[in-house]
Amino acid sequence: MTETDIRGDFPIFSQDPALVYLDNAATTQRPEIVLKAMDTFYRKGNANIHRGVYDLSARATDHYERARHTIAGFIGARSGENIGFTSGTTESVNIIARSFLAGRLSEGDNVVVNIAEHHANFIPWQQVCLETGAELRVASIDETGALNMTEFANLIDERTRMIAVAHISNTLGTIHPIDEIIALAHAVNAPVFIDAAQSAALYPLDVEKRHIDFLAFSGHKIFGPFGTGILYVSDKYRDQVGPYSVGGGMIRDVGRNATVFQSFPGNLEAGTANIAGVIGMEAAVVYLQGLDRNMLREKADAIAVEVRKGLSGIPGLHLIGQASNISSIISFDLEGVHPHDAATFLNAEGIAVRAGMHCTQPLLDSLGLAGTVRASFTIYNTVEEGEKLVEAVKKLHNFWA
Ligand SMILES: Cc1ncc(COP(=O)(O)O)c(C=O)c1O
Repeated sequence: MTETDIRGDFPIFSQDPALVYLDNAATTQRPEIVLKAMDTFYRKGNANIHRGVYDLSARATDHYERARHTIAGFIGARSGENIGFTSGTTESVNIIARSFLAGRLSEGDNVVVNIAEHHANFIPWQQVCLETGAELRVASIDETGALNMTEFANLIDERTRMIAVAHISNTLGTIHPIDEIIALAHAVNAPVFIDAAQSAALYPLDVEKRHIDFLAFSGHKIFGPFGTGILYVSDKYRDQVGPYSVGGGMIRDVGRNATVFQSFPGNLEAGTANIAGVIGMEAAVVYLQGLDRNMLREKADAIAVEVRKGLSGIPGLHLIGQASNISSIISFDLEGVHPHDAATFLNAEGIAVRAGMHCTQPLLDSLGLAGTVRASFTIYNTVEEGEKLVEAVKKLHNFWA
């Protein structure tokens, strides 16, 4: 399949053929199949789930529950019972920090993260540590943007109660060695939370095979709708994840003085769910399952390699993140040009990139940077778009220098 075929799946590119969209790490575009799945649900299948005995509601419930199983298959989970629906990665991390970890932490315990984590996978752990007196241990990265694994290993000990790490750093593009981290964690019986926000679309997650304890991703970064996401919990911890938000739809029995809650994942989904969103997220997963994801990932990576080469020849341009194991996310800093000015200039050239801290302030502070310009490539991006970016950054440099 060529990228022309793939682009044809995304209505935004027929509406605006010249759009060079390189902000895929922030959110991806949606293919027709996803839009159609949600539209069809609202037009032909709309009903609330779990409560109705009539056919329309039963069909909506079946579809919603089927999505759990489809997504379980997509990430290599044993069953849909391991998949909770959330509003996204941020909520999934908060759920585990609050409803699993907080009650187990006390002074002398520690949680291990690293300096490059997205705020979503940093602040929730930081806050439970502050509240309980536990220590947040923050691993550093080396000059290429890779984790310093000797230091990382030394931070883990018998009192480590959680290790949280992104599969791929959203600012540096680094692919972290999660298998090695899981082995280190399990040696001291500590669970690992994998933030797969940047990897779920194109990387096999294999949660069961890799012995991942907790994992999260967001629907909108895998070509699905906003406001959707998942939380995977392994069988080992499934009955230890408590309710987070409480209310209707997640109970077994409610008395005047006490309530018995469903077990995971039912105990997470209080209130009316984002049913159309879950159906749209399932459609995105089915879409991805129909593509050769390995081939498409390699193509996006190959474009990124060429772009990095092109950019690195520009005087005063520094690539931020050059780890040997890197994805198709590229961050750079151009001396004397504020990232927002750079992104504004690129916008005038018809190129959409992100500029700023990318919700990784501890990382940017540690690098002494106010921000970076970030271009992120995915399945519908082309070699020509990569070349256009390099040419536009050269023009920016000539204009500013
Ligand atoms: C690595 C990583 N983690 C977490 C998030 C938060 O995702 P969401 O805003 O969809 O909850 C993002 C979003 O940019 C991310 O890149």
